Amino acid sequence: MNLVLFGPPGVGKGTQGMRLAQEEGLAHLATGDILRAAVRDGTEYGKRAKAFMDGGKLVPDEIVVGMIEERITGNGDAGFLLDGFPRNVAQARALEAMLDGHGMHLDRVVFMHAPEDALIERLSGRLICRACGFSFHRQYSPPRVAGRCDRCGVELYQRDDDRAEVIAERLKVYRAQTEPLLAYYRDAPGFRQVDAAGEMQAVFADLKQAVED
Ligand code: AP5
Repeated sequence: MNLVLFGPPGVGKGTQGMRLAQEEGLAHLATGDILRAAVRDGTEYGKRAKAFMDGGKLVPDEIVVGMIEERITGNGDAGFLLDGFPRNVAQARALEAMLDGHGMHLDRVVFMHAPEDALIERLSGRLICRACGFSFHRQYSPPRVAGRCDRCGVELYQRDDDRAEVIAERLKVYRAQTEPLLAYYRDAPGFRQVDAAGEMQAVFADLKQAVED
């Protein structure tokens, strides 16, 4: 199975996508995580991407498309779950062309949505493990030991782009550039919508059903 999860910042793509990919045996390909690793490692792509990410803007398509193509095609027979890509209509077209070129296709495109006040609350309270990337939330899913990851004990941090002014910019960029994907995918046979406003377990059950149904 090959699937795309898309939706606004903070809707739960990373949290739910990581778990769904594990349960379904898919590669979890999250462009945000891939870009943050490139910034951390100081690669050429990372150096070019950093200023865009810090400002809440999209990284130019040619950087992101190249990075994702390597991973989709180097993934053997395992399916993939794309989280955070495509992010605009040009990336959706590029994805279609790359899949066509390799005799592949998308089985599901799932749109996750939640009200904006919930997104802001989720992003402002998010904490992430420096080692494994697992997300916690100060209020909704706090770690057992403050400031430490439950899984690997490593320190948790707040993303630079989870500051209030950058969150506002990311939501603006989402509305202008990513929301048009709804019109692009809505009539595709594998399109599904999931209301992600509820608590995590209930959202996961709905997502799993949307994917397997
Ligand atoms: P990226 O990392 O993809 O960020 P994003 O899309 O803004 O999404 P987030 O990771 O912020 O949110 P999420 O939906 O994954 O939510 P999460 O599960 O963590 O991109 C970052 C930047 O990289 C972009 O701004 C851009 O610059 C660049 N970039 C990435 N991809 C690109 C592309 N394709 N093209 C160009 N540029 C690109 O959940 C959030 C919090 O809420 C967590 O704390 C979680 O514990 C909590 N939570 C989750 N679900 C629930 C729930 N149901 N109830 C309560 N709390 C919940």
